[in-house]
Amino acid sequence: MTIIVREADITTLNVDAIVNAANASLLGGGGVDGAIHRAAGKGLLAACAAMPEVRTGVRCPTGEARITGGFGLPARQVIHTVGPVWHGGSHGEAALLAACYRNSLKLAREHGIASLAFPAISTGVYGYPLDEATDIAVKAVQTAEWQPAEVLFCTFGAAATQAYASRGIAIQRG
Ligand code: APR
Repeated sequence: MTIIVREADITTLNVDAIVNAANASLLGGGGVDGAIHRAAGKGLLAACAAMPEVRTGVRCPTGEARITGGFGLPARQVIHTVGPVWHGGSHGEAALLAACYRNSLKLAREHGIASLAFPAISTGVYGYPLDEATDIAVKAVQTAEWQPAEVLFCTFGAAATQAYASRGIAIQRG
């Protein structure tokens, strides 16, 4: 199993699945969610909207994950997960963020995914501090009982790339 960090637009990656940092509605948004929906096209939104709501307005509770096709993306599938909003660190944020990685890996295993790209979940709009989030991401993947052949942490800026590299994750130049 290889784990690498690569600075790229996740919508361009030719992998079995990319992970989307979504919100609970699964109906799109800004950041990486917006980019993925724009690149995937309307089929992705239709597939997400068809997901059953577990309660009004919630198709994917925080920490859980759902899988759809990739539609117009090079990636064959999209695993949508909802990270925690950072509220200072004493509201269960760390456990919920770890659950995003764990549940995404669980779906990847169930769907025979061999190459999987994660964005830096919750570190944008949701305000999770980069260092703490990166610790959780790296630990969750490295200690997972099952891993795909290739895990790619896809970063969108030098600071995030450095955060993974400083934790021993090899940088793959695009
Ligand atoms: N490719 C890779 N990474 C990206 C891309 C992209 N095209 N666009 C943004 N990112 C990075 C951001 O720089 C950040 O490091 O993804 C990380 C997660 O940031 P957000 O997309 O803001 O996600 P998050 O912090 O989890 O907030 C989720 O934002 O877009 C809404 O609908 C989404 O409500 C949800 C919330």
